Amino acid sequence: MIVVSTVSDLRREIQNVRRASKRVGFVPTMGNLHAGHLKLIDVVRERADFTVASIYVNPLQFGPQEDFASYPRTPEEDRQALTEAGADLLFMPTTEEMYPRGMHAQTVVEVPELSNILCGAFRPGHFRGVTTVVNHLFNLTHPDVAVFGKKDYQQLLLIRLMVSDLGMPIDIVGVDTLRERDGLALSSRNRYLRPDERELAPALHAVLREAQGKLMRGGAVFPAIEASAAEQLRKAGFRPDYVSIVRQQDLGKPSAEDRRLAVLAAAWLGRTRLIDNVEVEIP
Ligand code: PAF
Repeated sequence: MIVVSTVSDLRREIQNVRRASKRVGFVPTMGNLHAGHLKLIDVVRERADFTVASIYVNPLQFGPQEDFASYPRTPEEDRQALTEAGADLLFMPTTEEMYPRGMHAQTVVEVPELSNILCGAFRPGHFRGVTTVVNHLFNLTHPDVAVFGKKDYQQLLLIRLMVSDLGMPIDIVGVDTLRERDGLALSSRNRYLRPDERELAPALHAVLREAQGKLMRGGAVFPAIEASAAEQLRKAGFRPDYVSIVRQQDLGKPSAEDRRLAVLAAAWLGRTRLIDNVEVEIP
């Protein structure tokens, strides 16, 4: 696997690949890779001839009180894992390389409205940081296809919208969430959980599955399902930011006729904020 950290080296490598008429696939990450990330690499390898991964903990998407400084960084293990997974190129830039004029001077890309609901309402500026860095990384790698996990459901939709709004010729693929045996969604932030919190953490997925069951059975009103799920989370020891039933296609409030729904939740266990979701296809 080729490893580069500068924009000029990345551009040179990508040009060589393009000259060989290869299809470029891309998986952007913030590192501390787990099996969920490696699944994204597998999916991209099926769809492209040359697989690029990036590792960059993007300061623009962290709020001032958030975990940018403590976010787990494991570059050696990540390089090893990506090599074994069959990635062809790893881009590991510094912040000087990504934002040479400084973060505050950086041109930003923002998908309005949808960036400010759900997680965006609790993390102001987060999604602007995500779309800005992903747009930048897309411009540097020129992928034909890019793969993202569905655990970050809102992020995935925002990236799809950005690509569509800006006419970027990139196929965006969403990949189902990988889970521990007890249902907890794989996440780099799971390592913040204390042992007692780790025991409680699968309740998030269990509560979402219960809401999913209620939606499938029909009859219950959405706000009642949301309120009951939030209450169950509180009883299980979480502090929920939100539990919301939304339309899959635009994260809008569904009507009784909508069939393709998702239940999205974000909740704190101690100092760890977990997110998860389930899709619901009502027959
Ligand atoms: O999902 C992530 O890890 C990050 O938000 C991403 C897409 C790599 C952008 O920094």
